[in-house]
Amino acid sequence: MRLVFIGAPGAGKGTQARRLESEKGWTVVATGDLLRAAIAENTPLGQQAQAYIQRGELVPDELVNQLVAERLATLDSFILDGYPRNLAQAAMLETILTQPLDAVIYFEISEDALIERLSGRRICPKCHAVYHLTANPSPRGDQCGVCEATLITRDDDQPDTVRKRFQVFREQTAPLIDYYRERGLLHTVPADAAPDAVYQRVLSVL
Ligand code: AP5
Repeated sequence: MRLVFIGAPGAGKGTQARRLESEKGWTVVATGDLLRAAIAENTPLGQQAQAYIQRGELVPDELVNQLVAERLATLDSFILDGYPRNLAQAAMLETILTQPLDAVIYFEISEDALIERLSGRRICPKCHAVYHLTANPSPRGDQCGVCEATLITRDDDQPDTVRKRFQVFREQTAPLIDYYRERGLLHTVPADAAPDAVYQRVLSVL
């Protein structure tokens, strides 16, 4: 299965992608996770990407395109979470793919509902598990329930950065909704329900 997940920051793309990965075995390729790992490891890519992410802006296409091309080269089944992020990246993806996409899922939800999700989010810096203080708490409190690393708040979940990320989504990413609708690939999933309910909606689409 070759999937693309689109949605505003906090819509639940990562949460749903990780569950599909564990239950179906489709590898998640999450550009945000890859970039944060590069920053944590202080690689040349991480050094270039850090300032963009902290400002809530997109990292330059050439950096992200190369990252995705390298990851997809060895994968038959994947879920792209966070890529493509604009029309130029969507055009690049078409040149990278050796087989066509099966579906693009758009997680639809209002920005108002997302503020609470992002302010309560905690992530595992080691295995990338995602939690929420009330909606999806870790069974180990402030430690990851999977690998026991100490959970952290993402730098870009600060309110000013979140506002910028919403603006970037509206202006640069939202045009992908029509782009993929015109190609007959788009499925819209209402994402304003509990994680289990959203997961069932995703399964019914697939
Ligand atoms: P990225 O990491 O991709 O962030 P994002 O797209 O803004 O999405 P998020 O990870 O914030 O949200 P999500 O939809 O995955 O929600 P989640 O499941 O975590 O990108 C970060 C930055 O990297 C970008 O700003 C950019 O700078 C750079 N970047 C990345 N890709 C790029 C690209 N292609 N090109 C250029 N730059 C790029 O859920 C959020 C919270 O809600 C969690 O706490 C979760 O537990 C909770 N939750 C989830 N589902 C539910 C639910 N149904 N009900 C209640 N709570 C829920």
